[in-house]
Order: sequence, then C-alpha cells, then structure tokens
Amino acid sequence: MTSQTDSASRAPARILDGKAASAALLENLRAEVSAGIGAGRARPGLATVIVGEDPASQIYVRNKRRACEKVGLANHHHELPEAAGQARLLALLGELNTDPAVHGILVQLPLPRGADYDEHAVLAAIAPEKDADGFHPLNQGALLQGRPAPVPCTPRGVMHLLAGAGIELAGKHAVVVGRSNIVGKPVALLLLREHATVTICHSRTRNLAEVVGSADVLVAAVGAPRLVKGAWVKPGAVVVDVGVNRLTDGSLCGDVEFDAAAARASWITPVPGGVGPMTIAMLLRNTVDLAWQL
Ligand code: GUN
Repeated sequence: MTSQTDSASRAPARILDGKAASAALLENLRAEVSAGIGAGRARPGLATVIVGEDPASQIYVRNKRRACEKVGLANHHHELPEAAGQARLLALLGELNTDPAVHGILVQLPLPRGADYDEHAVLAAIAPEKDADGFHPLNQGALLQGRPAPVPCTPRGVMHLLAGAGIELAGKHAVVVGRSNIVGKPVALLLLREHATVTICHSRTRNLAEVVGSADVLVAAVGAPRLVKGAWVKPGAVVVDVGVNRLTDGSLCGDVEFDAAAARASWITPVPGGVGPMTIAMLLRNTVDLAWQL
C-alpha cells in the first residue's frame, strides 16, 4: 500500500496562475483609475527610466509601459545612454521628484556596469513618496518594521498569489531561497508579517536539500535554472518559483525543476505565467496607491 506522502498517490499540484491573477488585477485597476479620474482625481503617472541597452531590461520596461497604457496611467519615459553617468541620472531623478504629474518613479535594474553608477545612491535619490518599486532604504526600513510603505512589486505579487489561493501562512515553515534586496529579503519579511516561520537560504547554506525539504511554503528566487530539485520538495508543499532563466535554446525555465516538483507539491507557479506577470500588476497598483495616497 502506498503511503499518504507517496507522490504516486497524490493529485498533481494545482497551478497558481499569475497570468489570470494579473489580468484580473489590471482590469480592476483600469476600472478604479477610470472611476477616480471621473471623480476628479489626477491621472496617476509613472516615470520609467532605463539606462543603456540591456535587451532583457528593454523588454521588461516595454511591458511595463504597455501595461500603463492598458490601465490608463500616464507614462513618462526616459532613456539614457550607458555613458550618461551617475550625475546625469541623479539630475533626471531630481526633476522627476518635483514633477507633479509623476507619482511613481522606476529605474530599471541592473544599471550598466560600464560607467560610474552607484545603485544604492540612485535608489536613495528617488523621493520615498514616489518609490513605485519600494526599493528606497526608508521604505525597506518601514517594511522591516512592519509599517505601511510601498512594497517591492514581485514580493507583493507573490503574497497576492498565495492569498488568492487561500493558502494559510500562520505557523507554517516558509523557506526562501535567495537573499536579494528586490525579492528574497522583502518576501521573507512579508511571510514573517503573515506569521510564517521563515528561513532564508543562500549560496553558503549547508544542506540546502534538507532545508528545502522542510518547507511548507517554498519561494525560490535565485536566478539559477532548476537549482531546486523536485525530489527535495516536501509532499503537499506550496512552491513559488520567482526565477526566470533563459536557456541556450531560447526557452524559459524557473529556479525549480517544475515537473518533478509539481508531482509532489499541492500548489505551484509555472514559469512563465506564474510570478512574472504579477510584478507589473503590482507596479501599477503601487503607482495608483502613491498617486492617491491609498
Ligand atoms: N529588475 C529586475 N526586477 C526589477 C524590478 O522589480 N524593478 C526594477 N526597477 N528593476 C528590476
């Protein structure tokens, strides 16, 4: 007789569908923006800033701009050449900080390595009350302390997917693989806010397989193709894969071995179509919140 935890006896994981959740969020935002403007509120405006020619960043920013258009946000777009340098970028941010039509500012990361860019100084130069990405140190500090502030978009999207599926977090062991300021650390804080017991793993973690195997909720955010093996996943766990890795054949894969993990998990995000689309939806949500002080 097979045990309850034998993968062969389990139904396959249910899909956490970020594409559908994102579409619903964008449609709700569109209606909210239209109603707000009808009631006399200012049209929310997002400034997008891209420095250099990185092809992946170009695609990400284009998708963010398209989403603005779809939802009815104004987009103020700025492209700087890689050689522009830190001073010119800071001067642009100074202008955007005081522009009343701009409610949210996004500087696409990573900045080019070539010139004298200092990413921390750039993020700190964005007015905290216009920080659509939630990357300003004051806002990251507020997140640490559990005070209201703009929350980084991908972590906010992860939490929305979990909440939408009715996944209970209080008392669960949540394991986050990855410790970036953009995803790993903020998502760990948000899981903690929901009363999960949180472990953060990284490149120096010993016995990664064992720690992952103890996760009720696993969030993988390292950017390493299929680093997390499906066989490590605890039967019935919830698996959220933030990784988007392009393979040499042009296809995309996540940080988790999808098929093997899906055979054991209760819920899982696909790549693409999981967390990815949520990031853009939450960027626009943050911008509307900032514009209207929600
Ligand atoms: N690069 C990768 N993810 C992000 C993001 O969420 N915001 C910005 N600004 N840059 C990124």
